[in-house]
Amino acid sequence: MRSKYVAGNWKMNMDKASAIELAKGLVESVKGLNAKYMIAPPFVYLDAVYQVIKGSNIILGAQDMAATKNGAHTGAVSGEMLKDIGVETVILGHSERRYEFYENDALINKKIHLALESGLDVVLCIGELSSHRIVGVTERICELQIREGLKDVSEEQLSHISIAYEPVWAIGTGKTATPEEAQAVHASVRSVITRLYSPKAAEEIKILYGGSMNDANAEELLAQPDIDGGLIGGASLKVDKFTTICKFASK
Ligand code: PGA
Repeated sequence: MRSKYVAGNWKMNMDKASAIELAKGLVESVKGLNAKYMIAPPFVYLDAVYQVIKGSNIILGAQDMAATKNGAHTGAVSGEMLKDIGVETVILGHSERRYEFYENDALINKKIHLALESGLDVVLCIGELSSHRIVGVTERICELQIREGLKDVSEEQLSHISIAYEPVWAIGTGKTATPEEAQAVHASVRSVITRLYSPKAAEEIKILYGGSMNDANAEELLAQPDIDGGLIGGASLKVDKFTTICKFASK
């Protein structure tokens, strides 16, 4: 039986004081809950947040990383640097990276390999645009993003990877996929993993849902058999909302 995983993607929000305050609140409110919990603050607050959450049951995540190793890459932050300051996992392939920063599957694949080499776990984000859904190619788009994103990733390495299915039309819009819509895609993602790897790998991999998941809809989404958790944006910025979701995952 897969345990659940709830991750908060803070995106480009907050200042240092509010990041510390949010982290402190979460350490208290999530204490004793038994799912896997991760928060991903902006790069500049990673260290400050780490000082608050170290030793708790919340792990530190980063929202992105460089596609190159340490060296002359102005403005970039490497996987090794992230690992060095307490980061355990990195979100890669988020649709905001794909569409605002023109990241493609090949680049995301390169980052995944570098993350794994640096000893980081990965949350690989995939998901269709609303135009894809309208013409009925959601599952094909997701399969392509998985195939390309996980190119040359071994089954052993796959144990360090979770997948977040995030329909782009649902991110930050308040429009959530229905539990049935989400479950259907999650089941198809799991069958892609069966085909690419093995039934065992598919049974073990955690597939999170993201896209306007909040304290009001999380319980129903998390009750679906193939939804193993959530990647939460807006609702991860408030202690009470995020904690409610964390509690549903801990049942
Ligand atoms: P949202 O963001 O919960 O604000 O829709 C989710 C995400 O982008 O990971």
